[in-house]
Amino acid sequence: MKTIEWTNGKVRIIDQTKLPHKLVFVTISTLQQMVKAIKTMQIRGAPAIGVAAAFGMVLGAADLRKTAKKLLDSRPTAVNLKWAVERMQNIANAGKGFSPSQLKELLLKEALLMAEEDVLTNKKMGWYGAKVVKRGMRILTVCNAGALATVDYGTALGVIRAAHEQGKKIHVYSAETRPRLQGGKLTTWELQRSRIPFTMITDNMIGHFMQKGEIDLVVTGADRIARNGDSANKIGTYAAAVLAKAHGIPFYIAAPVSTIDFNIKTGKQIVIEERSPEEVLQVGKERIAPQGTKVKNPAFDVTPAKYIKGIITEKGIFKPGNLEMLGT
Ligand code: MRU
Repeated sequence: MKTIEWTNGKVRIIDQTKLPHKLVFVTISTLQQMVKAIKTMQIRGAPAIGVAAAFGMVLGAADLRKTAKKLLDSRPTAVNLKWAVERMQNIANAGKGFSPSQLKELLLKEALLMAEEDVLTNKKMGWYGAKVVKRGMRILTVCNAGALATVDYGTALGVIRAAHEQGKKIHVYSAETRPRLQGGKLTTWELQRSRIPFTMITDNMIGHFMQKGEIDLVVTGADRIARNGDSANKIGTYAAAVLAKAHGIPFYIAAPVSTIDFNIKTGKQIVIEERSPEEVLQVGKERIAPQGTKVKNPAFDVTPAKYIKGIITEKGIFKPGNLEMLGT
């Protein structure tokens, strides 16, 4: 089952705001609908929003400059979105002189190719990454870097999936990931469907279980990786990485090369999305703090390269300091 798919001239996505209780598909036929779906996180996860942006460029092909701007403004941190928009712009430039319908067809071909490549990329990543997963390991992951965050298969969860498919008898700890609960709602849903054994914990339990020796490995995804290996991922990832270092537990990032932003030297240059205070002020439908409570809600944090043992990509596993070689 694909998270995002082009069918009959429209885009069909899984509405991730309805999971795990309901599996609902939403059909998107305009650029406006696509931008809204990205902003409200009906579709989310760096590679998935990259492909969503590529299809968005097809839907808004009549005015590509405006379309690109709207898509780029929808979520700022995941560089896959920018990467996808730029790739589509390059295709449009190559199609100069084409009729509008020919151009749209050309753009659609590219977007479909990107969607197909995404799955293949994740499977390659899974194959490389499974090498660091030893039999019986208990693996912590943060947020959702699974099939739902990509077109299919997943990045960090792709690595876990590959190890499971190899019969390694692993167990996954899924951190619930406040405030949007991607770990509690989406990763658990995927693991259950794939019959991969798992336990859900709250984010503030991570140190406790590491101290008790119940976690052997950490694998997460990333939204943007700087040239020096500093990696932005869902808020809470940095704390998990520091704790992993303190307990001598290897911490890996799994992400496609398209998540590496070769234009930035360090993580300090990564723009962190600040989301609505309501996400923090409420748990489900219940408001948890008194009126007037001040809130901060950064959606991501940056894990410095020194905490990362390796970055698992579709081209192999790299030490954070060796990423430069992929950019040439
Ligand atoms: O805010 P989200 O849910 O889009 O954040 C997702 C993450 O942080 C993922 O870990 C990251 O995008 C990698 S997904 C393969």
